[in-house]
Amino acid sequence: EKGGWDSFMDKEIHEDPAAVQRTLLGRFDTNGDITLDEVRIDEHDFKSIDKIIVVACGTASYAGQVAKYAIEHWVRIPVEIELAHEFRYRDPILTPRTLVVAISQSGETMDTLMALRHAREQGSKVLAICNTQGASIPRESDAVLYTHAGPEVAVASTKAFVAQITAAYLLGLYLAQVKGAMFRDEIHQMLDSLKDMPRKIQWVLDTQPKTIQAAAERMVNANSFLFLGRHVGYPVALEGALKLKEIAYTFTEGFAAGELKHGPIALVDEGEPVVFIVPPQRGRNVLHAKVISGIEEVKARGAYIIAVAEQGDPDVERYADVVFWRPACPTLMSPLVDVVPLQLFAMDMAKLKGYDVDKPRNLAKSVTVE
Ligand code: BG6
Repeated sequence: EKGGWDSFMDKEIHEDPAAVQRTLLGRFDTNGDITLDEVRIDEHDFKSIDKIIVVACGTASYAGQVAKYAIEHWVRIPVEIELAHEFRYRDPILTPRTLVVAISQSGETMDTLMALRHAREQGSKVLAICNTQGASIPRESDAVLYTHAGPEVAVASTKAFVAQITAAYLLGLYLAQVKGAMFRDEIHQMLDSLKDMPRKIQWVLDTQPKTIQAAAERMVNANSFLFLGRHVGYPVALEGALKLKEIAYTFTEGFAAGELKHGPIALVDEGEPVVFIVPPQRGRNVLHAKVISGIEEVKARGAYIIAVAEQGDPDVERYADVVFWRPACPTLMSPLVDVVPLQLFAMDMAKLKGYDVDKPRNLAKSVTVE
């Protein structure tokens, strides 16, 4: 059942491209417009939505955090991300025009389930993004957008993450469509980029593993890692840090790269490994330059720089000790590729340390207690 791979995690990371592709399947009508057939909220209700609150835990919450950047940009409505266990206990502001989006791979996470119950009691509509047909979270929601990543067995979530981003992007573009927030052409352009991503992820899986394995061998004894990113690279940094702590039991911290000078740089010492998610060179150039200057800052303090960056980025080539390359893609699409080398890196580190990558200590695949 591991299909020739020596762990489920290995198998599931290699299913990242298929997870994105399958999640996009069957969502378009003959005009190429988005149709969300499992969604039982009528178009009128969708049109009236003026705020989205994502509730989720762990990896699913980082998928939501990525989607916030895209949906706010596309739909021009505020998107808040809230850890499900915090949400319910702080009297959140919910109205019938608020769409609560519950993201969960298993569909059974109790914290997320309780958050969605609370939202529905307050009169808000809930849409679930879920990987498990008929689980409690989709059953209790007003609408469901299934991620078709296929069953995920390894405890640390991998292919579900890229599928969750894909589904949340589809939701964003659908909202942009029904609300008339974007031109049809712009929506189709974004969809084309999205449909192109499985191929780009596959390129990473085909070309980067040797570099990643070598980096893991070199860093296997490191006591701690910092992960830094900006814009959509920020939640990717958080997810990369989470993967490494979950399965390799290494102390990691993820930060917004702009925050470096406001604290985390104090942690940087000779040889400290720092992972940077570097945005594409084109488009959001301002951000690119800012992340590069962050790299210079920590490099000057002797840090060991690992970068995830666009193929051929000359600034990265100059400063980074190791680079995991990504093929060129739009900034908003980059998380779908950038998380992949970080998943592989965490897995390689854990294997080198002799740990069971599928069943990390102290963790369960779905946490059904609050
Ligand atoms: C944690 C799992 O307990 O729950 C994580 O170990 C997961 O991998 C998180 O991201 C949320 O789970 P789910 O099923 O709600 O996405």
